[in-house]
Amino acid sequence: MATKIMKAVQYEGYGGGAAGLKYTEIPIPSPKKDEVLLKLEATSVNPIDWKVQKGMLRPFLPPRFPFVPGVDVTGEVSEAGPEVADFKRGDKVIAMLSLPNSGGLAEFAVAPTNMTVSRPAELSPAEGAGLPTAALIALQALRAAGTTKFDCTGKSSNILITAASGGVGHYAVQLAKLAGLHVTATCGDRNVEFVKQLGADEVLDYKTPQGASLTSPSGKKYDAVIHCASGIPWSTFEPNLSAYGTVIDISPSFKSMVAALYKKVTLSKKKLVTLVLAPKVEDMRFVVELAKEGRLRTCVDSIHGLSTAEAAWAKSISGHATGKIIVEM
Ligand SMILES: NC(=O)c1ccc[n+]([C@@H]2O[C@H](COP(=O)([O-])OP(=O)(O)OC[C@H]3O[C@@H](n4cnc5c(N)ncnc54)[C@H](OP(=O)(O)O)[C@@H]3O)[C@@H](O)[C@H]2O)c1
Repeated sequence: MATKIMKAVQYEGYGGGAAGLKYTEIPIPSPKKDEVLLKLEATSVNPIDWKVQKGMLRPFLPPRFPFVPGVDVTGEVSEAGPEVADFKRGDKVIAMLSLPNSGGLAEFAVAPTNMTVSRPAELSPAEGAGLPTAALIALQALRAAGTTKFDCTGKSSNILITAASGGVGHYAVQLAKLAGLHVTATCGDRNVEFVKQLGADEVLDYKTPQGASLTSPSGKKYDAVIHCASGIPWSTFEPNLSAYGTVIDISPSFKSMVAALYKKVTLSKKKLVTLVLAPKVEDMRFVVELAKEGRLRTCVDSIHGLSTAEAAWAKSISGHATGKIIVEM
């Protein structure tokens, strides 16, 4: 039988940024026994996608070239592997593809069923594709900061969320407000109103002296920081933390990893914790349910076509997205 082909966007080596992406034709992948083949509707671009292209995870990722990036997708099940019981042809789903396999910038992709959930009709393909990586790390970061209940019945505390206008930050603000926390957020001047609308109680423009020092306008000390920006040293966080304050760093550098270890071995009351996303389907179900109920909103920064995915890539590399950058097929 002749191989079926599809349009896809791939890169052939490390580096090159948006110019390194090639819109091309490749064979449609086949699902393994516990995978589904999806006819993709939308894919969101995350910083991890271009960080892998940049070689930041070399020699482990990507495992081969050429490589089709993109992990967060929505699509329609086109074929189910022989051991798949939960999904059938025609189902609309949200999935997180495996990072080493990726494949999201294409017309079709295979998704592991253990990270696939139904897409409720209330969510558009773009809104659904925004959720997996960004909403899950926001949720897991809040949990790492001690927040376990997202219905205002838990302990209230003061939290700082840096880069609150970005993909992760805009979900983190909403989740923190669902938990009943007092949220101070940082973002650029152009997004102050946006971040307030997400629910932040206080907003700091990170380009002002007060924003750069992270000082709460009302003088609050932070019990936790969900640190979604990068390049802020411990010496800036330290004076703003409460006695047992914890910084959850989701973009750790070598320096912050050493600092985190140092805090741990010296039994410091104020802590720095580095965090990497753990893909968990129950967390996917949780955020998708909140989104279905209209309690967790995806702000779409921009929508691009597959043949012009390099514009989405360049926007993500620029570091100036407001919410999620989407490619629609
Ligand atoms: N640990 C993990 O498993 C994991 C998972 C997901 C993401 N991450 C990491 O988390 C980070 C955030 O991801 P993302 O998807 O949210 O990124 P993003 O969407 O690209 O973030 C862009 C936003 O950040 C704002 N920003 C940039 N620097 C800032 C600063 N110093 N202070 C305040 N706001 C700032 C920008 O505002 P302006 O445009 O106004 O500058 C923009 O709105 C990335 O480094 C990503 O790799 C880690």
